[in-house]
Amino acid sequence: MSRIIIVSNRTPGKGPAAGGLAVALRDTLAAREGFWFGWSGKLVDEPSPKAKFDSIDGLSVAQVDLTREDYQAYYAGFSNSILWPSFHLRLDLATIEAHWYEGYRRVNTQFARALLPLLKPDDIIWVHDYHLIPLASELRQLGARNRIGFYLHIPFPTSDALYAIPHHQELMRDLSRYDLVGMQANRDVTAFTEFAEHQAPSTLAGSPLKSVDFGRTEVAAFPIGSDPDAFARLAASPAAIKMIKRMERSLNGQQLILGVDRLDYSKGLPQRVEAYEKLLANNTRFRREVHMLQVAPPSRDSIKEYKQTSDELDAICGRVMGRFAEPDWQPLTYVKRAYGQPSLAGLYRLARVGLVTPLRDGMNLVAHEYIGAQDPADPGVLILSRFAGAAEIFEDAILVNPFDTDETAEALRMALDMDLPERQRRWQRLMKAAKKHNVEDWSKAFLDRLAPASTAGTGTR
Ligand code: G6P
Repeated sequence: MSRIIIVSNRTPGKGPAAGGLAVALRDTLAAREGFWFGWSGKLVDEPSPKAKFDSIDGLSVAQVDLTREDYQAYYAGFSNSILWPSFHLRLDLATIEAHWYEGYRRVNTQFARALLPLLKPDDIIWVHDYHLIPLASELRQLGARNRIGFYLHIPFPTSDALYAIPHHQELMRDLSRYDLVGMQANRDVTAFTEFAEHQAPSTLAGSPLKSVDFGRTEVAAFPIGSDPDAFARLAASPAAIKMIKRMERSLNGQQLILGVDRLDYSKGLPQRVEAYEKLLANNTRFRREVHMLQVAPPSRDSIKEYKQTSDELDAICGRVMGRFAEPDWQPLTYVKRAYGQPSLAGLYRLARVGLVTPLRDGMNLVAHEYIGAQDPADPGVLILSRFAGAAEIFEDAILVNPFDTDETAEALRMALDMDLPERQRRWQRLMKAAKKHNVEDWSKAFLDRLAPASTAGTGTR
């Protein structure tokens, strides 16, 4: 059986994103003698052209270092100040410095050069996320004929937002060098098809590319999931129970409203706190009866727009505290720190409301994990943004427009007032959907499509 080579910017164990994906792919990699390739997290003056192998939690990982200059242009610059905001339709928060593209390209070339000597002809390569769109092009230029798939974890942008990205034509041509491109949701495939079918002549003017031919690339939605049963077990683990007990003491009978997000402007955190403020303003009966906890570990904090979001959130939380807190009651707690999965599972289980209201999100796995951790006898209510990929799966959540803070405030009221049979009815359906879209089936579906048994190892390009 062909080996599977996973490639992503961050490798497991080196960052917050690795968790679910690493667990899901560990067994596949162990069974097929594959390895994971990516950045070591280290910045050095002169990176070695060769990757170093390491074993992280039983996973074989090959890593390369980056220079500070490349980190700035490739990671902080092109990936996270141009692609991330544009793909999330926040052009107002993008910093367009076209020269970062050279660093982005350079790192993709560096990855390809370090990876190529490690490859066997029938290896199947699975590349993850927006940092590495050009990787297949770079590998093919060096002669690789392997099956190569790409999975985009974030939303695919509308054509207008795509046109704002310097060199977007080349990036789309890069996508066309993959055998399979997977996206989170149907809306992403629709946006992609829109681009592919109507490549605007105005954006092609002056470009060496006339149009991109996606003829040999299959593009399809593969919504990612979690392992809800594992989350259910985690929520009953000693560490989770410890957290639940601690929180119960401090809540003293109040209902918990919980948000857990990386501190990122795409997560809609200021709007969320504003909706909570409206709930308290419009429904005096909830004061002293509810408590909001927002867990928001800092992220990409070398980027100005992230610092601004953090400041904005500080200001709004401060305002809500000043407006509603009393000497013996605080309406909210706001924690800028990361917690381990067991503690989070405990918090999820305790929370009467899971508030997941990103302005735009590829999938949002917090929604999946919140569902998995609920107590079937007394489940909480999920409030979910219509603009998260998860909204295509979880129809039994209370779906809201996160920009409309009145609507979210009303959803909070509904969730807090919801009776037990209705909460159970909704949760049972949500859990069924979460189980159906589990992460193991997701990776199997993608890999089966990328390399059906009959074509594995034939090298199509
Ligand atoms: C999102 C992206 C991942 C990324 C993660 C954490 O989930 O889709 O590719 O790894 O955020 O961001 P960071 O910049 O810390 O890797």
